[in-house]
Amino acid sequence: MKTIVYYYTLTGHCETIATLIADQLNCDSEKIIEKKKRLSKGFLRFLNGGSALQKNTGKIEVMNNNPAGFDRIIIVTPFWAASPTPAVRGFAYKYKEELKDKTLGLALTNLGTDPEEAFSKYKELFRGSLITVSFTKAKNEWADPKMSELIDQFISDLGTVI
Ligand SMILES: Cc1cc2nc3c(=O)[nH]c(=O)nc-3n(C[C@H](O)[C@H](O)[C@H](O)COP(=O)(O)O)c2cc1C
Repeated sequence: MKTIVYYYTLTGHCETIATLIADQLNCDSEKIIEKKKRLSKGFLRFLNGGSALQKNTGKIEVMNNNPAGFDRIIIVTPFWAASPTPAVRGFAYKYKEELKDKTLGLALTNLGTDPEEAFSKYKELFRGSLITVSFTKAKNEWADPKMSELIDQFISDLGTVI
């Protein structure tokens, strides 16, 4: 089964998680690059949440690895304002046909909001069943303290999909 991890990141967290997942699965990872340059530093970066809430579809660069060539596709992304990031919305639309009938995994990162609303919006976006996991930063720490357990469980859940 050919697997790939795609990730979108504004501040680096998802890149770390995507690399850990890809290392464990011994597969490639590739960054989803949005053409629009977004503010990534300081409190003003949170203004990007408006375009997520408004369901803006980000224009993204063509992926080097076309999803058509893979059976299992994992997407790692933050959620913004409890909503899909514009870049991942753009990815889902651009590769809608290629993603059909694939096993899809979704790993979300966030700062502490309950991820259920975001999960349901991402499920609507990808129009199918998703194997999900969410990583929440602990207070004064950069990573989820349960990160390795969560990755193990996610990989095990992905493996049991028929
Ligand atoms: C525009 C914006 C909106 C965000 N909205 C939420 C939110 O609704 N709930 C939450 O828990 N975290 C929210 N966050 C925090 C990010 O989800 C979190 O920092 C994530 O790990 C960032 O991933 P990255 O470093 O890969 O970009 C938001 C961050 C940004 C920049």
